[in-house]
Amino acid sequence: MTPNYLLGIDVSTTGSKLLLVDASGLVVAVVTQPHSIATPRPLWSEQDPGEWWQAVRTGIRQALKQAGISGSQVIGVGLTGQMHGLTLLDKRGQVLRPAILWNDQRTGAECDQIRERVGARRLIEITGNDALTGFTAPKILWVRSHEPEIYRKICHILLPKDYIRYRLTGEFATDCADAAGTILLNLKERIWSDEILRALEIPRTWLPTVYEGTQITGRISRQAAEETGLAAGTPVVGGGGDQAAQAVGVGAVQPGVVALTLGTSGVVFATVAQPFIEPQGRLHAFCHAVPGRWHLMGVMLSAAGSLRWYRDTFSPGQSFEELLQPAERIPPGSEGLLFLPYLTGERTPYPDPMARGAFVGLTVRHTKAHCSRSVLEGVAFGLRDGFELIRSAGLDTVQQVRVSGGGSKSRLWQQILADVLATELVTVNTTEGAAFGAAMLAGVGAGMWPDVDAACTEMICLTGSVAPDPASVRLYEPYYNLYRRLYPSLADIQHELNF
Ligand code: XUL
Repeated sequence: MTPNYLLGIDVSTTGSKLLLVDASGLVVAVVTQPHSIATPRPLWSEQDPGEWWQAVRTGIRQALKQAGISGSQVIGVGLTGQMHGLTLLDKRGQVLRPAILWNDQRTGAECDQIRERVGARRLIEITGNDALTGFTAPKILWVRSHEPEIYRKICHILLPKDYIRYRLTGEFATDCADAAGTILLNLKERIWSDEILRALEIPRTWLPTVYEGTQITGRISRQAAEETGLAAGTPVVGGGGDQAAQAVGVGAVQPGVVALTLGTSGVVFATVAQPFIEPQGRLHAFCHAVPGRWHLMGVMLSAAGSLRWYRDTFSPGQSFEELLQPAERIPPGSEGLLFLPYLTGERTPYPDPMARGAFVGLTVRHTKAHCSRSVLEGVAFGLRDGFELIRSAGLDTVQQVRVSGGGSKSRLWQQILADVLATELVTVNTTEGAAFGAAMLAGVGAGMWPDVDAACTEMICLTGSVAPDPASVRLYEPYYNLYRRLYPSLADIQHELNF
């Protein structure tokens, strides 16, 4: 019998990743095709959806070639990707303008408008979330006010990975994890909210059909089969927004297990069995990619992104290992140096597009090694802010924290995180993140496992742990308390600095 494979597709900000996995969880091919990002104005962040499709269609062919298999051996496709991005299509399915991405910050006024139209409390009650600049709904309102000629032509609104689904299957569909990030979804019922759509005057017919992450949403079309090498008729499941799929990919699918992701953004993610809303909307409350589950999430916008900026600016060309090695000898707290990692504004715990980064406490004694360590510590403090919100939200106690993402490859950063959070961290065998989670969701949809829990039990195991060091935990406490005072003290100045 010819072996079966699953294809996970992650349409991320920096590139599209194509991952082929066999039935035992072995990764047999990984291909990444880069995307370019445009910043045509300050605070804007846009991408050409045509570039996503170009990356995916060529990437699938390369992945099949790398694995040495034929398209007909792929029995299921799962999609994941950057959340919240607005892709607009006309009645012929043509893209109307560049997609407006999750990290675009232009919609402050439209967020106010949404709170006014829906009512700030009611918005949180229905969607689980406040209106934040990164989310999708304010972007739709922005296009209505600033580009009316484009707005008039809209027939379909899609999230980034769902544009790829449309190109693969011809279907307009999404999953409820990603749909929740539009703030047009009724969180509890996992369907579009007519009340919100009415208040914002957005036609329901523009929105895709909502499915669970493991449900089949369509099949590879004849044309897509020709373009990609996949077999026509191959099922494509709902999948999930990147954070929900990432959680599936590391097995964070049960209440009590928290996923901590150190990617460009930094995420603290907790699964809940009921739709749980943080009353002030400080944590995002979204549906999980696991049917019938939800999650709470704190998102900082520049986590490993801060370290990348720091390296590219002050040590271009150096490897992260080389850069961080001298920082191991610096004591916790970097001898009185604090770093505020708000290089691209912030979301959790301060939803402020105008927040800015800072080094505070610099003296002539501080070396580059101090600054490097301070960047790692500042990001860890920022993640602790999200972690504290989850801890104090009244959820079941946190039983385990699973760390993943590019930044977690650094043993030093892992240790700093364990010390700052005063919690043991564990690592898992799966390292391909959201694309792996999407492939697992496809496996459930294709009948390889009965459900996501069974898939995780079979595919994912713990590989290591990092215990907090009690002396460092004590040392970090006063530094964290000072860190918490930084943003409130600096916010006014930072806002005035936005010339
Ligand atoms: C989640 C979020 C990011 C993006 C990009 O709310 O904004 O994770 O999905 O990765």
